[in-house]
Amino acid sequence: MIKSHLLCQLSYAPRLGWLPLGHIEKSARASTFTSTFNKCSTSFGSESTRECAIMWIMPLEWDALYRRAYDGVNYRLRGFAGGRLAGLCRPTSVVFLLTELCNAKCVHCDIWRNKGKEDSPTLDQWKTVVRDLRSWLGPIHVAFSGGEALLRPFTTDLAAYASELGLFLEVLTHGYWDDQSRIEKLALARPGRITMSIDGIGDTHSLVRGREKFWEKSFTSLQTLKRVREEKNLGYVIRLKTVVMSHNLHDVANVAKFAAENGMEVFY
Ligand SMILES: C[S@@+](CC[C@H](N)C(=O)[O-])C[C@H]1O[C@@H](n2cnc3c(N)ncnc32)[C@H](O)[C@@H]1O
Ligand code: SF4
Repeated sequence: MIKSHLLCQLSYAPRLGWLPLGHIEKSARASTFTSTFNKCSTSFGSESTRECAIMWIMPLEWDALYRRAYDGVNYRLRGFAGGRLAGLCRPTSVVFLLTELCNAKCVHCDIWRNKGKEDSPTLDQWKTVVRDLRSWLGPIHVAFSGGEALLRPFTTDLAAYASELGLFLEVLTHGYWDDQSRIEKLALARPGRITMSIDGIGDTHSLVRGREKFWEKSFTSLQTLKRVREEKNLGYVIRLKTVVMSHNLHDVANVAKFAAENGMEVFY
């Protein structure tokens, strides 16, 4: 049986980051994410309607302003006074591994070798974690990844929930889906960014990803993301994420070219 990860990465910024919105959230911070996180791993505690009410009235612009202040000020303070304030740091970005399973077969990753049933949280349990995180840290950057996050049937619902809470949500996917309704649902969940791994154009991508027609399927998913963004006037960024290695060195510049021609960004 595979043990699921609730949380895989915390990068820290100092506590001062939440001061700009302290007056809005003061009464909402009845419990810390840490305490609820511990509770979640046993009983997954119940919802606080008061916390939710306060979170949901914060306008979108405030969320963006909050993030800028939280990240900017605190990154600078991290090295302030020779790092003596580093102990006050709080996470600025949190990545959730929603599954450790995957249906790809990449040359540079072993996750796909995991087999068996996962002992992982339910949608409601994940919602509790996301809500508590939002209550603790404000509308920070959160990423859903894996394994392949879209293998979990509730990922798009959880994504919609996280977005409604004002979190800047990023979802990582390989895009290897025949069923484009999955990709459409993801787009309609209103994340801030959808990141698709693209390790080359055409056969290079399929070779790295270890399955035939991988490029064709990822390409179709990218077209779907572009179409839905335009049709529904949505604002999410489409990011192509490329791992540079000997297998694709000859092709990585073409990924940037493809991104530029298609209204996407690239991240190596
Ligand atoms: C683990 S995957 C999970 C998300 C999704 N399955 C995907 O491939 O986009 C997240 C990212 O990590 C990258 N990755 C996997 N193994 C890696 C390695 N050994 N070194 C560097 N990046 C790696 C993948 O290429 C992908 O862009
Ligand atoms: S698709 Fe992502 S999780 Fe799956 S094997 Fe490739 S890099 Fe690993």
